[in-house]
Parts: sequence; structure tokens; C-alpha cells
Amino acid sequence: MNKEEQDKLKKEAATKAAQMVKNNSVLGVGTGSTVAFFIDALGERKAKEGLTLKHIVTTSNRSKKQLEGLGFKVDELSEIDQADLTVDGADRVADNLDGIKGGGGALTLEKNVAINSKKIIWIVDESKLVHRLGGFPLPVEVLPISCEQNFKKFEQEGLKPQWRMDENGHRYVTHYGNYIIDLAADPVPAPHGLADYLDHTVGVVEHGLFLDMCDEVIIAHSDGTIEDKKK
Ligand code: 5RP
Repeated sequence: MNKEEQDKLKKEAATKAAQMVKNNSVLGVGTGSTVAFFIDALGERKAKEGLTLKHIVTTSNRSKKQLEGLGFKVDELSEIDQADLTVDGADRVADNLDGIKGGGGALTLEKNVAINSKKIIWIVDESKLVHRLGGFPLPVEVLPISCEQNFKKFEQEGLKPQWRMDENGHRYVTHYGNYIIDLAADPVPAPHGLADYLDHTVGVVEHGLFLDMCDEVIIAHSDGTIEDKKK
């Protein structure tokens, strides 16, 4: 699938999700190119139908800027109790709706918004679907103070770590001033075991395994159908 075809599918999934947002609700908005189409579609609903949201929280400055450009007010996660719904993209989605996220580097805020949401919908094109989690580097956000030790430990564990780099050839720095190590273990051998290991590794801030979180995935297929897959 070329980029143009993929963008068309991303837009279709995003537009469908935007129709599912309820007026006056508290909305979490994720990050990425699919979410950018979702934000555009929210803007259209605002202009055409007067869509109003009680609160919006986002998972990146990119999404925040786009929303504010469309006249939406964006709050901090700490200012709300819970989101009624969070809509986000994903890098890979397995048959059981577990996912890998964080390709855009926003995994820490994405997981915090997700965990504080009553319902989570992911919007994807069909290229993101896998039977078992894998096929995409697994991001791990690490504190700079012990990142070298974390990297070596991951190497010893056979997780094939790589530093994420930015466009200038420097280590990519997250929203919180940390680094990202991408693990190339593919397929992810035992997602819950690996998540547990990473959750208990000192220096790891967050990782991109989003397990048992997603309630529904809207998938745009290249045959023109849109699938709404629920847990
Ligand atoms: C960012 C993410 C994104 O949701 C994920 O990378 C999908 O992005 P895109 O919609 O551009 O394919 O997890 O950290």
C-alpha cells in the first residue's frame, strides 16, 4: 500500500471515530498521523454541528496545537478526573486487541491518558494488524541517568535494543526529557511477561506494550470496508 492509499484509510477510520464522540463529553485525544485526521474531523463536526466538549486532554503538543488551532480548549490530564473516551492510533494491533504504541515517541502520556479513560478506541488502517504482537520496534522510554545500564541489560536479555535517533542524528528526547530504546524482539515473545519485566526495571519510565487496554478498534480496509472490532 502506498502512502496516499494508507492516508485515505487512516482518514476513513478517523472520520468514523469522530462520529462516535458524544457532545459534552470528556475526550482524550492521542497522537500521530491517523489522530491528525481525527482532529480534523472533530473540527468539521464543531463547525457544522456545533460539537462541544466538556474537556479535552491530549497526549502530545502536536495534537494540542492542532486542536487549539480549531478553537478547542485543551486541559491537562491532572485537571480532569477521567476521560469518557480516548481515541488514539496504534503501531500494531494483535487479534486480541493488545497493541504496540509509541512510534511517535508519545507513549508515556498516551498510556497515562489511556489508563484514565472509561473507554479506548484505536483507529488504524489494515496494515497495522498482526496475529501476534510484533512487526514493529517496541519503544521503551528510559531515564538518562541509567540509560546505558538499561541498554546493556536489554542486550544481555536478547531484546536487540537500538537507540531512537532524531533527524539530526542525536538521541531522540521525549516530552519528559528522557530517551527511547527501541527493542527489536519480533514477535514479542510473551507480551505480559515482557511488560512485567519492563514495569519492574528501574530506570524504565514506560513502554509501548498496551495490553488489556483497548476496547474497540476501527479498522479501515483496502477493500473499502470499515470494521469495528470490539473486545
Ligand atoms: C505515537 C503513537 C501513534 O498512535 C502510532 O505511532 C500510530 O501513528 P500513525 O497514526 O501516524 O501511524 O503511538 O506515539
